[in-house]
Amino acid sequence: MTTPIVNVIHENDAWMPPFRAAFEAEGVPLEEIDLGGGSFSAIDLDAEPAPGIYWSRMSASAHTRGHVHAKEHTRALLRWLESWGRRVVNGSDVLELEVSKVAQHGLLRSHGFDVPRTTAVFGRGGLVEAARAFEPPFITKHNQGGKGLGVRRFDSHADFDAYVAGEDFEEPVDGITLVQEYLTAREPFITRAEFVGGRFVYAVRVDTSAGSFELCPADACAVPGAEIEPFALRPEIDAEHPLVRRYEALLAEAGIEIAGIEFIETVDGRTVTYDVNTNTNYNPDVEAVSPVSGPRSIARFLGGLAAEEAGDAGNTGDTAATAGAFSRA
Ligand SMILES: Nc1ncnc2c1ncn2[C@@H]1O[C@H](COP(=O)(O)OP(=O)(O)O)[C@@H](O)[C@H]1O
Ligand SMILES: [Mg+2]
Repeated sequence: MTTPIVNVIHENDAWMPPFRAAFEAEGVPLEEIDLGGGSFSAIDLDAEPAPGIYWSRMSASAHTRGHVHAKEHTRALLRWLESWGRRVVNGSDVLELEVSKVAQHGLLRSHGFDVPRTTAVFGRGGLVEAARAFEPPFITKHNQGGKGLGVRRFDSHADFDAYVAGEDFEEPVDGITLVQEYLTAREPFITRAEFVGGRFVYAVRVDTSAGSFELCPADACAVPGAEIEPFALRPEIDAEHPLVRRYEALLAEAGIEIAGIEFIETVDGRTVTYDVNTNTNYNPDVEAVSPVSGPRSIARFLGGLAAEEAGDAGNTGDTAATAGAFSRA
């Protein structure tokens, strides 16, 4: 039997400590493939990847940390792993979803979820005209982003026109800006439901009364001296909740195994789903009070898959380790 190993593909070292700790606590060996640090320089495409489970945590916002090619490198790496039949959690198809809010919107809409009315605008030129179809307030966001990239609220077309023409305009990395109806929350919070292995873990209530759209939950994003703690457990959204059940069905159908899905309950009684994240960072305050842990759930889930795989490899006598397929710079 080979050693059950989980290989995590990521690009941001600052997000890794909670996962390292969780894997250690669960006794699951974790190997890191850091595509942000430039530690991998080549893949021998004709060589078999090292055994183990592979888990992609590539982030749509990688380019904002100077890792401009990390997403492309992940695409290449995942295709190679999948071509050799490696078990990849949140693989190629999920990466395409992670890097496209257009794709997320389409997935949600086609599965019958209420989604915000949205126009995807290619380039800067068509923005002003496209926005005319939206009654202010409306918002913009980058198609490829996360962490609130390009998310801005506009209360008049004149403000928007000035923004598009001015120096503050934020170019989206893929040239696609979304113009979206502004959802007025019944109470000033959004909810994020977390799933691991396709199963519900917990729901987090994120206070939005401070008006910020950048809702990075990681410890690494904490603002020193911040007055309110915006993240709290939302216990009334539980595993039996009908919306949670629908999210689980969606994830199963789309092959998404680890995700955080965000929704807003509006003043006019809608429950609108607007964001599917596939590389959650779990908030430490929520983790401290929750009976279940996000990172520990991941370690257990992936540890289980790795043990299964290692057992199978053992049974077939296929134990050839080919860790040399990667070249570390
Ligand atoms: N249509 C909307 N109406 C009102 N607020 C929104 C809307 N879309 C997003 N927001 C707010 O902006 C935040 C960031 O937007 P989101 O779509 O989740 O992008 P990101 O992927 O960057 O997190 C949300 O968590 C929410 O607070
Ligand atoms: Mg979000």
